[in-house]
Order: sequence, then structure tokens, then C-alpha cells
Amino acid sequence: MAKPKVGIIGAGNVGATCAQRILERDIADVALVDVVAGLAAGKALDLAQAAVLEGHDGKIVGSHEYTGLQGAQIVVITAGMARKPGMTREDLLEANAKIVHSIVPRVMSQAPEAILILVSNPLDAMAYLAAQMTKWGPRRVFGMAGVLDSARLRCFVAEKLKVSVKEVQGLVLGGHGDTMVPVPEMTTVAGVPITKLLPKEEVEQLIERTRKGGAEIVGLLKTGSAFYAPASSTADMVQAILLNENRILPVCAWLTGQYGLDKVYCGVPARLGQGGLREVVEIPLSDAAKKSLNQSADAVRKEMKAIDAFLNAAA
Ligand code: LAC
Repeated sequence: MAKPKVGIIGAGNVGATCAQRILERDIADVALVDVVAGLAAGKALDLAQAAVLEGHDGKIVGSHEYTGLQGAQIVVITAGMARKPGMTREDLLEANAKIVHSIVPRVMSQAPEAILILVSNPLDAMAYLAAQMTKWGPRRVFGMAGVLDSARLRCFVAEKLKVSVKEVQGLVLGGHGDTMVPVPEMTTVAGVPITKLLPKEEVEQLIERTRKGGAEIVGLLKTGSAFYAPASSTADMVQAILLNENRILPVCAWLTGQYGLDKVYCGVPARLGQGGLREVVEIPLSDAAKKSLNQSADAVRKEMKAIDAFLNAAA
């Protein structure tokens, strides 16, 4: 039986590693696309040869053309500039809006039924841009980031408490920017909130490191940003949808009143399964978390305004 197909736009580090994860999990065939001639084709060929050694029969094709996307159930957009040291994700808005704006119509023509997952930064704004262009609705257009930010928090907690990452759950809400909202009372080790396991200052340090998690890596790499964890995070979302897992993951979702937020893309827990984002899941939040989530949504609204201006100018 043919496997489902996932299209990945952008064959840079995030896109190519995401392709690798999806193939190695054996959950889908992959069509990799990149404007740079030969880049997607070369990486696809390399991945196809690695598949022999990894022992799976997933098919991967790579091209600068979009025709390979035909029949894709999910399309992941990773194309765009990465941050350089000292830059915020918002600094990428204009350059990446142009790139995503050029990609979306091509995806729409080749894969009109697809679910779109935005990974390019600033991703809340890019999800909004893609939603405005496609009109595909919140079930089919959303962004990856909460899974990544939560993974970072979980990593730091596991390291701090010297426990297996398997015992650590974590939750980071809000936009994927400096205003993101790690929720310590919902971050648990074997079910116990870290607020009961660590002194306040240490919890604060973990939160701060999570907020700056992407920048810490950009600062170390100097050329480029994180890609292993972003790729695995995206693969988790793809898997949840394709295998209809009904996982509840933090997702950059379009809100229509949930959490008291209306008409904004923001990171919240959502159930992912067949068809995409099946529902936003509302969990009780402390007043402090609610306040921070509001502030984070306001920061995203500013980016959405910039996208509106960009779309008006492009019209
Ligand atoms: C990060 C980038 C991918 O957080 O946004 O590492």
C-alpha cells in the first residue's frame, strides 16, 4: 500500500532533517522542494541511499519544482532565512514573508487538499500569512513551535533534576518569540510540578533559558539556527496527524475566543489527528500564565499587522 506523502518546502537543515526523521519513522514518503537548483535533489538522493542502510523503503524525491507535491496530505514550510547572532525572529519577518508569499500559491496549485504546517520564522506571523492566502481554515493551517519550546524546557528540567527525559512533561504556550510562556505548574516530573521540586529562582532560570533556547544555539553556531530539535518537533506533529494519534501538543493555532483570545495565531495545546488540528484544548491556567499569554498574543498581533501591511502592498 502506498504511504501517505508529506511535502517539505526548504531543503536546508530543518527541512532536510525533518525529511530524514519522517522517513526513518517510516510514516510517509517525502517530496522535498527547494528553489536552489540541485539542493533538494541532492539531499533526496543522499537520503534515499541512507534508507538502504537504515532499512526502510520510504520514497523521497527532491526538486526545485513543486509538481512532486501532488497528492501530499501535509506540506511543511521551512524555507526562509535563519537568524544570525543578535537577531530576533521578528527581524526575519519581511524577508521570510516574501519567501512564504511566493511558496504558498505553488503549494495551493499542487496540493490543494493539504494540511499546512508553518515552521519558517517568525512562525506565528507566517502561519497567519499562509492562512490569509489559502483561506484553508484553522484545521488545516497552523505552526510548529510549542513542541520545540516545550522540548527545550523538558531537556533543561531533566538535566537539572538528573532524571530521564521520559519522566518530564512540559508546556510552553504563546508565540514563538521572547514573549513565549513556559508554564512551570504544568511542567512535571513523574506528575509532580517542578514548582514543588525546585526553588523559585531555579525554576525562573529554567524558564529564562527556555525563552532564549533558540538564541543560545544561534549564538553558538554563529551561522544558522537550531535544526535537530525543530525537525523532530515537526515530525511529531506530522506523525500525530498521519497516524491519527490525537496527541495534545502545543501548536501555533488560530484562536476564536479560546483562552479569551480572538482572531490571533498563538501557541496553545491542540489535539492533532486525522484532518489536522481537531480542536484547541483549553486547560485551566494560573492568572500569571493567562496574563503572560495575553501579552504574547499582543506581540503576535503586532506581527500580524505587519503581515496585513505586507499583503496590502503586494496586492
Ligand atoms: C529556534 C528557531 C528555529 O527556536 O526558531 O531554534
